[in-house]
Amino acid sequence: MDDRFEIFLVATPGLEAPLAAEAAGLGWQPSVQPGGVTITGGWPDVWRANLWLRGATRVLARLGSFRALHLAQLDKRARKFPWATVLRPDVPVRVETTCKASRIYHAGAATQRIERAIAEELGAPIAPDAGLVVKARIEDDLVTLSLDTTGESLHKRGHKEAVAKAPMRETMAAMFLRGMGFDGSQPVLDPMCGSGTFVIEAAEIAAGLAPGRSRSFGFQQLASFDPSAWDAMRGAVAPRPAPAQFFGSDCDAGAIRMSQANAERAGVGAFTRFDCRAIGDLQRPDGPPGIVMVNPPYGARIGNKGPLFGLHAAMGQVFRERLRGWRVGIVTSEGALAKATGLPLESGPVVAHGGLKVRLWQTGAL
Ligand SMILES: C[S@@+](CC[C@H](N)C(=O)[O-])C[C@H]1O[C@@H](n2cnc3c(N)ncnc32)[C@H](O)[C@@H]1O
Repeated sequence: MDDRFEIFLVATPGLEAPLAAEAAGLGWQPSVQPGGVTITGGWPDVWRANLWLRGATRVLARLGSFRALHLAQLDKRARKFPWATVLRPDVPVRVETTCKASRIYHAGAATQRIERAIAEELGAPIAPDAGLVVKARIEDDLVTLSLDTTGESLHKRGHKEAVAKAPMRETMAAMFLRGMGFDGSQPVLDPMCGSGTFVIEAAEIAAGLAPGRSRSFGFQQLASFDPSAWDAMRGAVAPRPAPAQFFGSDCDAGAIRMSQANAERAGVGAFTRFDCRAIGDLQRPDGPPGIVMVNPPYGARIGNKGPLFGLHAAMGQVFRERLRGWRVGIVTSEGALAKATGLPLESGPVVAHGGLKVRLWQTGAL
């Protein structure tokens, strides 16, 4: 395998553009594709992408490609593939295949050929529950092999044990914050904070903390992994003290306890404050205006829709009366509920969120 190769950053569908902007900010030259972003680099770039990107759900390394017109050819070429340059004979692996517009159309048979090639040529065990996954895409008779270098999805930062109802994924929360123009310097308030995702992401960004600092990754199991270079990369992260301007509240006392525990585990307890209060009791935080980021209940997942119109109208009024100068971002699957706030909102692109299609609706300064 070459020293430099294509790296595909998988995005939440609809959040490719902010992920590309994030990758550009980290020094890569991203190209937006449907479903993600392509960059070029070597293994240290793969590690850095996993460690630093807040918006990617996983990082795939493009291993190589070859043509295969039938299964016997796939078998032969998969056996010749230099597996030892990336995989280790002692680490279990599995293969996932998709076929499109190709003479090889049976994904199961293709998977079996590639897995057998890895098992017999490299000696690596094949296991259906293996954490390491080789992804084979067969399109127009071209077999493209990639490796999932991430393992468990990147939205799992490794700090959240307690999860409230309908939590926002950290990867999405970070990209919606970016969509609001959050750069770490502005105060952030989530008055329906649930498990605290927006507030904790914002505080981590302000504190310069790497999102992957506490977790492990698939690439640590690869032949190309260099533990001392990785330790040096992780050790070079220099967190900075952040101002204590990241506020969450929720009417559910359990959610507030969870948020506090999650913030402590993430190391941002000192920069965050969580209060148990209903939206009607919202107080304007001291200090300059900032960004309200809220993901209110939207009915499809929790509760019924009817009363939610009243809740959204009340929320809009509270924001107008108490948060003059703040900008508001509302993430919801229901445009009608967003509009029920009576706020002057503009909507962003559709984003897939656990079977729902949500959008970020945002205002200018109130
Ligand atoms: C969709 S969840 C938010 C999830 C959150 N973004 C997270 O990542 O965990 C909606 C939250 O709104 C809260 N909520 C509902 N009605 C409320 C009210 N009147 N005042 C304050 N919070 C409310 C619920 O307790 C719930 O935690």
